Amino acid sequence: MRVLGIETSCDETGVAIYDNKKGLLVNKLYSQVKLHADYGGVVPELASRDHISKIIPLIKNALKQADLTGNDINAVAYTAGPGLIGSLLVGATISHSLAFAWRVPVIPINHMEGHLLSPMLEKNSPKFPFIALLISGGHTQLINAIDIGKYQLLGESIDDAVGEAFDKIAKLLGLDYPGGSALSFMARNGNVGRFLFPRPMIDRQGLDFSFSGLKTFVANTIRNNNMDPQTSSDIALEFESAVVDILIIKSKRAIEKTGVKRLVIAGGVSANHTLRLKMKKSIIKFGGEVFYTRPEFCTDNGAMIALVGMTRFKKCINNTMDIIVKSRWSLEDL
Ligand code: KG4
Ligand code: ZN
Repeated sequence: MRVLGIETSCDETGVAIYDNKKGLLVNKLYSQVKLHADYGGVVPELASRDHISKIIPLIKNALKQADLTGNDINAVAYTAGPGLIGSLLVGATISHSLAFAWRVPVIPINHMEGHLLSPMLEKNSPKFPFIALLISGGHTQLINAIDIGKYQLLGESIDDAVGEAFDKIAKLLGLDYPGGSALSFMARNGNVGRFLFPRPMIDRQGLDFSFSGLKTFVANTIRNNNMDPQTSSDIALEFESAVVDILIIKSKRAIEKTGVKRLVIAGGVSANHTLRLKMKKSIIKFGGEVFYTRPEFCTDNGAMIALVGMTRFKKCINNTMDIIVKSRWSLEDL
């Protein structure tokens, strides 16, 4: 059985084919990053138009690379939300058209469930139940993943998402959008201890996060300093350290609260090297285990959508003729 997965929720067009016996057969990605760079953020109308022009060549390419035709596909899974509505509609309509032509089911997938299960694309894959720290450009959530489709929200950011905070500080440091990864690179040359930034909400009980205070503190520091390359690196390092500390403290608290010792970190920010290292060290010391996927599957991709599509297809659920897209869609409402 093979599922074609299609991801178009934001500024990446992703196409992948997942086989239930052989695993991932092919994964194709077209990133629109250059298209939006001049605007300092994603322009929704440009994003949907670009998905339209890239999606079909990408699907043809994926089938060709896997040496398959439409006849070899047993279901089409697509990201139905959350995301930009115009972009989502491109993936939804293409998926429905293909599924109709190929006479196979079409399965709407929640993008965040894709991120959450993305470590299952790896050999060392987590078993349920596990705690998931979902950290992307639009989300910062701690989830108790009880089973496929059964997710309980434990805590989330009350303001900026962690990826959003990375991107905003990166912009102030003169880096192109989305600057999370470049900021992390810049931090490698930083000196420890020159700056000290706050770690908001760590003393407060509960599992919610807040990043806007930290962001304002860092923005003021940038404004009040003569910015040379070393100062930029020192600020980037301390910002990254503050974020990593907050994420580790809250993740440990979630483990303590639930007694579930497996932790998944997923979403674009989970590609962060420092976070991966420090989280692993810290959670192992705490008696837990950490799972994440390779960096290319941390950011948006079709592979995670094809994978979740396969789990849904096996259970014969979620498959519908209605074209479903939802700009907001909580993991608790699957
Ligand atoms: O999951 P994702 O690709 O898209 C959303 O669903 O939002 O996440 C994108 C976010 C961006 O904010 C980007 O700057 C951030 O992930 N990101 C990183 C790193 N790589 C990507 N943030 C920090 N360090 C990284 N290495
Ligand atoms: Zn994403």
